[in-house]
Amino acid sequence: MANEMEMLRSRCAGCMSCPLGATRRKLVFGVGRSPSEVMFIGEGPGEQEDLQGEPFVGPAGKLLDDMLEMIGLDRTRIYIANTVKCRPPMNRDPAPEEMTACRHWLDEQIALVRPKIIVCLGRIAAGELIRKDFRITREHGQWFEKDGVKYMAVYHPSALLRDVSKRPETFVDLRELRSVIRRECSLYSE
Ligand code: URA
Repeated sequence: MANEMEMLRSRCAGCMSCPLGATRRKLVFGVGRSPSEVMFIGEGPGEQEDLQGEPFVGPAGKLLDDMLEMIGLDRTRIYIANTVKCRPPMNRDPAPEEMTACRHWLDEQIALVRPKIIVCLGRIAAGELIRKDFRITREHGQWFEKDGVKYMAVYHPSALLRDVSKRPETFVDLRELRSVIRRECSLYSE
């Protein structure tokens, strides 16, 4: 429910449960449709996201938009969030304690979005949501099921910007994702 999501955002706005709260410029809570059959979860805000208060608005976000377009979606039809809502300084990986402190916000978002499919963007999100020792190089594009929700991890758009050789494998993953969304969701027929 949009209102409930807004209420959750307001509760999250003053969060100081981990040290990232002290250095954030803007909270990067999440964006998109709720409820939605499909949810994308990234790692954490970068510099542009921290300035603008919205996930995936920097260079990686442009590539994410292209990836969504490839599968016939856009950010108005899905929900996008991150494992942590505040920027880790110098774009370092979020620390395990930071993800743990932030996890209940993500769990509450997932409960409101009620996705059938969760796409983890990169190793960090997959390690948090699919399995602690998730190996992105070996396990990207595979399906995992937990509590009736299907999970797939793909390479993080920033990794695809750094290393274009990963892109062909990602096209294959996105095709698989599109075919399962087509089969199991009503997003394409709306
Ligand atoms: N990278 C992420 O993982 N999340 C964002 O919101 C932006 C870049």
